[in-house]
Amino acid sequence: MTAVAIPGVDNAPTTHQQLLSWVREVAELTTPDEVVWVDGSDEEWTRLTDRLVETGTLTRLAKKPNSFWAASDPDDVARVEERTFICSVDAADAGPTNNWVDPAEMKATMTELYRGCMRGRTMYVIPFCMGPLSAEKPMLGVEITDSAYVVTSMKIMTRMGTGVLEKFFDAEGNERDFVPALHSVGAPLEPGEQDVPWPCSDTKYISHFPETREIWSYGSGYGGNALLGKKCYSLRIASTIGRDEGWLAEHMLILKLISPEQKVYYVAAAFPSACGKTNLAMLEPTIPGWKVETLGDDIAWMRFGEDGRLYAVNPEAGFFGVAPGTDYHTNPNAMRTIERGNSLFTNVALTDDGDIWWEGMGEPPAHLTSWKKRDWTPDSDEPSSHPNSRYCTPMAQCPILAPEWDDPKGVPISAIFFGGRRATTIPLITESRDWQHGTFMGATLSSETTAAAKGKVGVVRRDPMAMLPFIGYHVGDYFQHWIDTGKRADATKLPKIFYVNWFRRGEDKRFLWPGFGENSRVLKWAVERIEGTAAAQETPIGYVPTADDLDLAELDAAREDIEAALEVDVEEWRAEVPMIEEWFDTIGEKLPTLLREELEVLKQRLG
Ligand code: GDP
Ligand code: PGA
Ligand code: MN
Ligand code: MN
Repeated sequence: MTAVAIPGVDNAPTTHQQLLSWVREVAELTTPDEVVWVDGSDEEWTRLTDRLVETGTLTRLAKKPNSFWAASDPDDVARVEERTFICSVDAADAGPTNNWVDPAEMKATMTELYRGCMRGRTMYVIPFCMGPLSAEKPMLGVEITDSAYVVTSMKIMTRMGTGVLEKFFDAEGNERDFVPALHSVGAPLEPGEQDVPWPCSDTKYISHFPETREIWSYGSGYGGNALLGKKCYSLRIASTIGRDEGWLAEHMLILKLISPEQKVYYVAAAFPSACGKTNLAMLEPTIPGWKVETLGDDIAWMRFGEDGRLYAVNPEAGFFGVAPGTDYHTNPNAMRTIERGNSLFTNVALTDDGDIWWEGMGEPPAHLTSWKKRDWTPDSDEPSSHPNSRYCTPMAQCPILAPEWDDPKGVPISAIFFGGRRATTIPLITESRDWQHGTFMGATLSSETTAAAKGKVGVVRRDPMAMLPFIGYHVGDYFQHWIDTGKRADATKLPKIFYVNWFRRGEDKRFLWPGFGENSRVLKWAVERIEGTAAAQETPIGYVPTADDLDLAELDAAREDIEAALEVDVEEWRAEVPMIEEWFDTIGEKLPTLLREELEVLKQRLG
């Protein structure tokens, strides 16, 4: 029996006992004014967005159908890595790359934060599924949140609502497990207190309990901190599930490349946040006859199929894309996706006629409302949009969506790209010698930090497999899991691994490679290597094309720039080695011996 009756808590559209008791327990702890079971309907979306417009969180856009502008609290604009915790029972299981707190201690601390934290607010219960609902074992979750903005974002980003609840029982009528994901903005309202447009707290915790597969988030309303199906479930928790069950949860886009001969290749690519995944996923090839279709732009779950090939599924249903830099020249398919409406825009600028604008979208209008809700003109000192401002839009609206995007079987991956943002050293593309060498490339991936996470921008750090902030367990065990994955399959069936860098700069600091649609030339070379039809140079770091090996027809770029982008500078690489050694030393004894050996091979080859 409930001590205090909370309206709505008993209006549950399910008899799932485990879910019912968790919801009741959370309601009693957080004491919301009411509980709402989210059904995922369009009527509900309208009700919630109307309410968010009333409270000032959203502004309806006159120029885009069913779309809204939001500006966050200026201190709540990105993932907070220093406040993200892996609370495994044993500290050693979190490894050197995660913040660790004892789970009992973390739960005690956060329980006190959660006590009464939803006072004056509505508590929403969102049943969701990551990946296709028709999967044999649907990957279920429930997010409890006191943010209606989170509910509307989750409607775009996940399969959610009443349809998902039906999957909470298997064919025999047994209760299925789900990942409980508790979220609060941490801003209770006193009676009569006026709410702010973007409630949040200075105290933030993004906590994961890998053994019990639970997520507790407090204090932030933004992106990966608050949409718990995304990074928290589909990467941090899923990577631990994948370790236990023999599959991979990765920070990768999934694209389908179709050659002029109509041959199909599926490519997965891991780049750190704000390093080009969404753009590559929706690429419009500049080379004639080639086509790209999109399956995912941020996360891939990869399992072996019965034929021994690695199949990828995108767990998400929406794009949460970096806005600045996106326009009809760089990413026309993202623009077409958002033009269709039904989207949320956060921390971009608002035009006077009710549209959105951001840096990179051509000539700025004479006047804008900036993401800080201030008047902005082209003379202003600050950008109109935050560098980590985002569009949140349904994948189903993408004009080049691959028809098989919702197939629970996934798609067989032919190539894996690792890439980062490096001004020097890393060539445009390098092919690994084999899976183990490719794992070494991924394990030593480095990138300059971006605005996607709070902290300094432009600092080179190791970002293994672009998963540094997302590996839910010890990084050494994660590397071993990658090596073991390669051993489980016939080498001829494994994807070929490549290392790319779109961001190498010339002495004048310009990007050497034009990027975006021109990246199709790099994709083409990669599949020609798979087919055995393209040439490459063997270098100390792997196989690298010369400018002649790439299809550069009609490319508007200086030959010297392309050559510089492809250069393997032995001196730069010798300078890279101590940084790799330092990184490997931080991993300690769990670093797989095979990766140490790869480093020795690299050193020998560099002379
Ligand atoms: P994601 O966060 O990994 O999905 O990265 P995005 O695709 O959203 O891109 C992040 C930023 O990098 C945006 O500002 C893009 O305009 C920029 N970007 C993406 N691809 C390229 C590229 O090929 N070349 C260059 N120079 N910039 C790129
Ligand atoms: P991104 O996704 O990789 O598209 O930037 C969000 C994030 O990783 O923070
Ligand atoms: Mn990401
Ligand atoms: Mn992205």
